[in-house]
Amino acid sequence: MRIVRTVQAMRHEHEQWTGSVGFVPTMGYLHEGHLSLVRRARRENAHVVVSIFVNPTQFGPQEDLATYPSNIEQDLELLKTLEVDSVFLPSVAEMYPSGFTTYVHPEGSLTTQGEGAIRPGHFRGVATVVQKLFHIVQPHNVYFGQKDAQQVAVINQMIKDLNIPVILHVLPTTREPDGLAMSSRNSYLNASARARASAIYRALRAAQAAFDEQHETNSIAIISAARAVLQQEQGLQLEYFELRDANTFEPLTTLRAPALLLIAVRLDTIRLIDNFVLHAD
Ligand code: PAJ
Repeated sequence: MRIVRTVQAMRHEHEQWTGSVGFVPTMGYLHEGHLSLVRRARRENAHVVVSIFVNPTQFGPQEDLATYPSNIEQDLELLKTLEVDSVFLPSVAEMYPSGFTTYVHPEGSLTTQGEGAIRPGHFRGVATVVQKLFHIVQPHNVYFGQKDAQQVAVINQMIKDLNIPVILHVLPTTREPDGLAMSSRNSYLNASARARASAIYRALRAAQAAFDEQHETNSIAIISAARAVLQQEQGLQLEYFELRDANTFEPLTTLRAPALLLIAVRLDTIRLIDNFVLHAD
């Protein structure tokens, strides 16, 4: 496994390859969710590249850029066991040299609602770094997690709009035994918050059950079912619970599959997101 730190060296890696290249972009502090993407990339490609880069342009000024968890040595050990070919590990200066001014700016409700409303500029940062990474790594197949449902929708739209020659693969959310979606940010949770955090999953389950089992389609009633679960835990504040069309991302007042149930909560001071996909039968 080679550690590649510059754009030029990454290009050089690529020149030596003939078969398909699979790529998994990450911000590191890897967990099973990330590794599920890497395993899939390994199965489906001749060459596998993983990037680890905590991208400053996708963090707001009040967000956790400075404290974002990191353990590069452990990450590299994990990636080695999965037989990754190259790990792209650029510095901030390599990705954003002084004088950098060109951004990919996704527009429309996809980026102004949901996470976009709460994190202005977040998807501009994501789209910019992902487009740059695509150009640098030049993958055929790219692997993203459903955990970040809106990110996947933004990237999918960007790939279409800008005619980027990659195939997007979206993999299901990997969860802890109690249902909590795996996330690098879970490391911020102390034992008490960690125990309460599974309410996020239980709230999604309650909303799904209202739809699947009680045949409830009214968005207000479905959201109330989720809210009732969250209210049983202290220090857990619902930021949003939204029902959206899975294809268009449009808000739904009457739930119909395929749909997304999207949730964001603050648990003490920590922000966590999750979602369920409701498939059409
Ligand atoms: P990061 O949060 O490190 O996530 C990297 C990839 O792993 C994303 O595609 C994310 O959706 C996926 N992932 C995270 N948790 C997961 C889980 N529990 N199950 C399945 N997949 C999971 O997302 C980012 O980094 C950044 O925004 C990035 C795309 C790298 C751009 O900077």
